[in-house]
Amino acid sequence: MGILENRVALVTGAARGVGQTIATTLVREGATVVLTDVRGDQGRQAAKALGARASFAELDVTQEADWARVVDETVRTHGRLDVLVHNAGILHMGTLENTPPDVFRRVLDVNTVGPYLGTRAVLAQMKTQQRGSIVYVSSIDGLVGMNGVTAYAASKFGVRGFAKSVALELGRSGIRANCVCPAGGNTEMYGPWFEKMAGFTEQTKAYTDNRGIPGVVSFAAIAEAVLYLASDSSAGVTGIDLPVDGGATAGKFLAGFNTL
Ligand SMILES: NC(=O)c1ccc[n+]([C@@H]2O[C@H](COP(=O)([O-])OP(=O)(O)OC[C@H]3O[C@@H](n4cnc5c(N)ncnc54)[C@H](O)[C@@H]3O)[C@@H](O)[C@H]2O)c1
Repeated sequence: MGILENRVALVTGAARGVGQTIATTLVREGATVVLTDVRGDQGRQAAKALGARASFAELDVTQEADWARVVDETVRTHGRLDVLVHNAGILHMGTLENTPPDVFRRVLDVNTVGPYLGTRAVLAQMKTQQRGSIVYVSSIDGLVGMNGVTAYAASKFGVRGFAKSVALELGRSGIRANCVCPAGGNTEMYGPWFEKMAGFTEQTKAYTDNRGIPGVVSFAAIAEAVLYLASDSSAGVTGIDLPVDGGATAGKFLAGFNTL
């Protein structure tokens, strides 16, 4: 028996990448999962591949009306909503000079305002149930700063602060709120900057190699961390940031020191 048997979950940005793997993992553990995304065709395909306990609904996380519609449909169809995973996100890479105000605002809109709207949208239902687990997918860039990603870092630091306040505000209503902070490297997300980054491959390799556990963290590892926070396995846990970063934020790694 899975650890999410009889639970209903909604995952944003689930048409591909980490979100799709999260949805797959939650279905594996017995949950009924509503995959959502702005990518309709891809999202429908992803849901279809997961069988009868998965469905798809188009949802742009920046649109309050979309949230109202999808949460309402979910509760009418499945009777409850136990888990909400805020996974949808966008990246912008560029120096400050190459980060104009409209881009900065858009990144905050999707990555930070989206989770705010979604959290408000599920409040009434989760309060009625006196149960709910909300998981926010932040990032290593929400734990430490990095050059070239100011908008993204601002949005991912922001969602962590938001989640902690939600945790304190809603704990007495049976609702938990936690963040996972992955350090991955999804080629689809980095797509637009791939060509430019090919000019400094050694630096990006060093970035992922100089960790306790070298290399890119897998989607599966990120999804398992989300599963832990989504399920009763983490019943006493709220307001935390769970780094899934191979130890990248644990401290500095110098390869030579391992030979001393
Ligand atoms: N891949 C990693 O290693 C990694 C590392 C750190 C953080 N993250 C975070 O994990 C999450 C998923 O990233 P990913 O690597 O799978 O990226 P991805 O680009 O493959 O997937 C993101 C998904 O979000 C959807 N999306 C974008 N804007 C949306 C909107 N307005 N409304 C609804 N859906 C929208 C996209 O259509 C896409 O399917 C993001 O929040 C990202 O910041 C990922």
